[in-house]
Amino acid sequence: MKNYVVFVFVLAIIFINETQTSEILVVAPMPSYSHFSIPFKLSKELAKRGHKVTCINPYPQKAPIKNYVDISVTENIEVMEEIRKQLFDMNKFGVIENLTFIFDMIKLLVDRTMTNKNVQDLLKSDKKFDVVIIEDFLNEAMFGLGYHYKAPVILISATTTSDMSNYIFANPAPASYVPGMGGTLTKCMNFWQRIENVLTKSVFYGLLHLYHLPQQRELFHKYISNDTDLDSIIYNTSLMLTNSHVSVSDAVPHVPSIIEIGGFHVNPPKKLPEDLQKFLDNATEGFILFSMGSNLKSDDLKPEVRDGILKAFSKIKEKVLWKFENDLPNLPSNVKIMKWIPQQDVLAHPNIRAFISHGGFLSTVEAVYHGVPIVGIPVFGDQKYNIATAEQDGYAIGIQLNDLSEETLTRALNEVLINQKYRNVVKQRSTLMHDRPMTPVETAIYWVEHVIRHKGAPHLKSSGVDLKWYQREMIDVVVFLILVVSLILITILVIVKKLLQFVFSKSKKNVSNKKKSQ
Ligand SMILES: *[C@@H]1O[C@H](CO)[C@@H](O)[C@H](O)[C@H]1NC(C)=O
Repeated sequence: MKNYVVFVFVLAIIFINETQTSEILVVAPMPSYSHFSIPFKLSKELAKRGHKVTCINPYPQKAPIKNYVDISVTENIEVMEEIRKQLFDMNKFGVIENLTFIFDMIKLLVDRTMTNKNVQDLLKSDKKFDVVIIEDFLNEAMFGLGYHYKAPVILISATTTSDMSNYIFANPAPASYVPGMGGTLTKCMNFWQRIENVLTKSVFYGLLHLYHLPQQRELFHKYISNDTDLDSIIYNTSLMLTNSHVSVSDAVPHVPSIIEIGGFHVNPPKKLPEDLQKFLDNATEGFILFSMGSNLKSDDLKPEVRDGILKAFSKIKEKVLWKFENDLPNLPSNVKIMKWIPQQDVLAHPNIRAFISHGGFLSTVEAVYHGVPIVGIPVFGDQKYNIATAEQDGYAIGIQLNDLSEETLTRALNEVLINQKYRNVVKQRSTLMHDRPMTPVETAIYWVEHVIRHKGAPHLKSSGVDLKWYQREMIDVVVFLILVVSLILITILVIVKKLLQFVFSKSKKNVSNKKKSQ
């Protein structure tokens, strides 16, 4: 009897596992490790739970992962190397140049990805998928893969909800208090800043409709299908996992199909390499981590700026761990250079006092997660916005790249290291990030499986999605009302004018009649 119960139990487990596992396609072709790390982590977590994951990406694994298959697009990395050379210049670009640069880069990447032999082989095979998860980076043409596989589409983002995703999901993001991510505006805007925000967002949406979406439609028709239009696919996206949380991003509206998973990518701290562990343990006065992320190499800094940075470091008592690709001569004794640094594990070290960062969003989340104040040197993309927001929230000091020098760095370091305010604020935010009903990983898995279970999520969709842009913004209604009110006013004016003329001419006549009769 006992054996029988065990047998049924085992069968039940096998049966449940069988029915619950799904075929999942993850699309993450962006050749930037910080973009890849988010969908990659989701892929691994899904694979761990028995789902079969196929992942289009430029970073194929050397050691195989159970239930996980790479579709390699490593060639995309060459494109990024070319683009990377221009990243520092982007700092000097205007709004329009910046946007068209990004749109063209995405077009090139989608093109490269779709013509890749491995991707072509996958598309031609008879493989089926239950859901398609796409790393959201203005690559709308690729949403068509959901159409190709007749599977619902989920987006996952390495950043917070962007103007683009707000548009896709009809998510309210009024320009009065939701700043665009390209600039330095924060949620507290004065009248002129709100005007700037409206204009910048209008330029984005203008270019989106006139420049970007036509490119994406063309790519979709070229590589995926001619039977339908891309727009009906874009606005049919089931869900978005957005990399935000109130501890690190603004408290802004989210429609039910946008789920916040900020903090998702942070892993429990691992053991550090021995020499690094020793260096950090010995930093009894504390240490500072300096890293400009994976896209920008510290080597791109001008020599005089590099020297200024070293002079600033030589004046502080804390040690400095600097991620730098080359060896440097005449290093101050408190500075250690490493080509690669396990950033999350270093941020978790109890001796850390501050983090000098380019302000990439993932780095900002990690700093808040571990409660480390930031000195931000933003360069491109959303970095200025991230640092401006962190400054506004009171746990960072920003330095513009052009102003970076011995003096500015010394001033910022002294403030962050001596004034306790920055540390207290970021520690408080760290506790907020940890205080939530489910971990971000559990949340992400739950919602992916929810979409698979229900074969899409039309029940989460806002009806704003079905409206044209001018209908959503109520431009048609406002214009109509202005016309009606104007018409009424004009009518009244005309009537009053006629009446006056009538009365006036009457009295004139009377006067002239009187004159005549005299
Ligand atoms: C929209 O998505 C659902 C769920 O994936 C799907 O069944 C439906 O066919 C899609 N509609 C269009 C127009 O693509």
